[in-house]
Amino acid sequence: MRLDRLLATLGQGSRTQVQRLIRTGCVTVDDSIVRDPSMDVSENTPVTLNGHPLDTRLSRHLILHKPAGILTAARDPKQSTVMDLLPVEMRTLGCMPVGRLDKDTTGLLFFTTDGTLSHRLLSPERHVEKEYIAEVDGPLSDNDIEAFSSGLNLGDFTALPAKLEVLESENNYAKACVTIREGKFHQVKRMFEAVGREVTKLHRERFGPLTLGDLPLGEWRELTEEELRGLYLSVGMAEAPQSPLTR
Ligand code: URA
Repeated sequence: MRLDRLLATLGQGSRTQVQRLIRTGCVTVDDSIVRDPSMDVSENTPVTLNGHPLDTRLSRHLILHKPAGILTAARDPKQSTVMDLLPVEMRTLGCMPVGRLDKDTTGLLFFTTDGTLSHRLLSPERHVEKEYIAEVDGPLSDNDIEAFSSGLNLGDFTALPAKLEVLESENNYAKACVTIREGKFHQVKRMFEAVGREVTKLHRERFGPLTLGDLPLGEWRELTEEELRGLYLSVGMAEAPQSPLTR
């Protein structure tokens, strides 16, 4: 890749801005100042800008603990989006959310620069499991567990059998863990609606093999190599194109 394109992709400025930086001697490649913006560089070549080493990885994979009140979208003219919670270069690198959580839903959102991985994780044929903790406005019973497991009719489609585990159930409140293997619009809310309950709180704890763990609300982290390997294997891809931690 051309040096100017690499720097722009890494979020260091527009193509014109980074060309100026290169020509004025602010950039080194392999410890030597380079003034030619068209120089060919590979992803793992050490590059510095104003003396600071740049993270030149083009492949990124991360999870965010999404707070409520934030849109899952690449951009929005008026509202905050999940991209606003990530470093600016994630946008220029094309690190995008895989699937979506509603604005009021919290929890695990996975982002990747790998379009093939994203596509496979979202493919309806793959049945990637997603686990949610839902709070609802009334009790849940064995009948509801049975209804979820036999595949709820949601009008325009019948949901695949889902697992409902009731954690608490009182007269006007219940809390449950729901595991689904598809991801239609408002799916969990619609499934509860089909058994006469309104979801008052929804949180995603797991997406495929990825779990949120103790990641604080609003924070993000990159996947470990082990997580990434497991994720690729889970969608039938033998190996990640490259290690998430190599520079
Ligand atoms: N199902 C929903 O209803 N909302 C979400 O955000 C995710 C799954």
